[in-house]
Amino acid sequence: MKTLIAYVSKHSCTAKCARLLAQSLRNPATLADLARDNPDLAEYEGIILGAPLYAGSIPSRAKAFCRHNLARLKEKKLGLFICCGLEDQAQAQLESAFPPELTRHASARASFGGAIDLERQNFLVRTLLRKLMKITESYEAIDRQSIQDFARQWEQV
Ligand SMILES: Cc1cc2nc3c(=O)[nH]c(=O)nc-3n(C[C@H](O)[C@H](O)[C@H](O)COP(=O)(O)O)c2cc1C
Repeated sequence: MKTLIAYVSKHSCTAKCARLLAQSLRNPATLADLARDNPDLAEYEGIILGAPLYAGSIPSRAKAFCRHNLARLKEKKLGLFICCGLEDQAQAQLESAFPPELTRHASARASFGGAIDLERQNFLVRTLLRKLMKITESYEAIDRQSIQDFARQWEQV
């Protein structure tokens, strides 16, 4: 089965998770950065979509991808993952991040954790992150076990 892993990533964590997921799958998967690539979905039987959470939402490019391909994605084997910083809210954010019909249809769904490089944020964002998310240092908290579990689940369906 041919699998596409399509992702949107603003600061590279989701891109890294997409690569780790591709390495965890037994069969080769094609990676597509939706900021750059325009994959032909007809070529794939399985599609995994990954996106990060920013202010409670996935980026508009990921939303547009879902909107434009809704009918086609519902015909495919589908997986969804998010990257996020608020681990205690990961489940709720995962449930609301993608259109409900895609969330219901997906046979694998997970949060893969997240990462923040404060050096790459401007002063205003750093201040907001400190106040709202209590983040005072850069960190990487990618949940590699969750990526492994997702890969095994994907292969079982
Ligand atoms: C400005 C900003 C807003 C964020 N908002 C949220 C949020 O609402 N919920 C959350 O769980 N994580 C939030 N995060 C954490 C990101 O989802 C996390 O850093 C993720 O790994 C980013 O993925 P990316 O590097 O692929 O863009 C935010 C991070 C930043 C910098």
